[in-house]
Amino acid sequence: MTDRYCVFGHPVGHSKSPAIHAAFAAQIRDDIDYTAIEAPLDDFAGAWWRFVAEGGHGANVTVPFKEEAFRLCDTLSKRARRAGAVNTLIVGSNDASTDRKVYGDTTDGIGLVHDLKRHGVELAEARILVLGAGGAVRGVLEPLLAEGPASLLVANRTAAKAEALATDFRDLGEIAGGGFEAVDGPFDLVINGTSTSLAGDLPPLPDDLFARDATAYDMMYGPEPTVFLRWAAERGAQTIDGLGMLVEQAAESFFQWRGRRPDTAPVLEMLRQAL
Ligand code: ATR
Repeated sequence: MTDRYCVFGHPVGHSKSPAIHAAFAAQIRDDIDYTAIEAPLDDFAGAWWRFVAEGGHGANVTVPFKEEAFRLCDTLSKRARRAGAVNTLIVGSNDASTDRKVYGDTTDGIGLVHDLKRHGVELAEARILVLGAGGAVRGVLEPLLAEGPASLLVANRTAAKAEALATDFRDLGEIAGGGFEAVDGPFDLVINGTSTSLAGDLPPLPDDLFARDATAYDMMYGPEPTVFLRWAAERGAQTIDGLGMLVEQAAESFFQWRGRRPDTAPVLEMLRQAL
């Protein structure tokens, strides 16, 4: 029988994950069945266990279930434990006669790092600014710090949340947190992890934010550059949107399930065309 995977979300109809994983499977001539499942807001665990009972092998998890998915795992990757959230679930055994242990990982951060490297962005010794202190940012700090930046400043509208994040990750590297008024450049890399782009808005930032040859990265994407990326381009930064991060995090999930790493470039190109 074809191995079954899915993405859980609510809503989930807009998810690009089924198309991405179908493209990965076709590329390496693998055979998987990957669907989108809208879990009820009050019963993610029920939806997950139903899927497992029907022979599901693993799943991606998106908004708003990443924390609930974290809570139902028996074992977690180090980075998922740090993130307090998972986007990738793996059933330890599909043999109904054995205990079905669940392993959880979060591949968002490593997806971001892979996408940055694909674009030639140097992370070791870089001065990095991360805007925002919500779940999206918490999920990427461990892999970013693992690259050995010179410094990583988390800046957020609510300064206390950025300070708390910095405290949580201080043992992993040179990290500080504060409000936007604490932002004091220049930076080699500025990553927008706020949801301001959704609202077509921009965090208040100084004009001299970017070092020479700096990169601006927005975790959001769309058919047009986000307000943040337009603002950054006007100030001379190389700009990258979050579509590549989406494909790279999917590739990492796929690798964990199937043991093979698909080529992300053609799949990214396909999604870009379809935006
Ligand atoms: P996610 O899971 O996507 O990270 P979240 O946890 O709701 O979503 O976090 C949203 C982030 O965008 C937060 O950092 C939020 O700032 P606050 O912590 O101060 O709420 C930030 N954000 C949302 N709207 C914003 C705005 N208009 N200006 C600046 N930051 C904003």
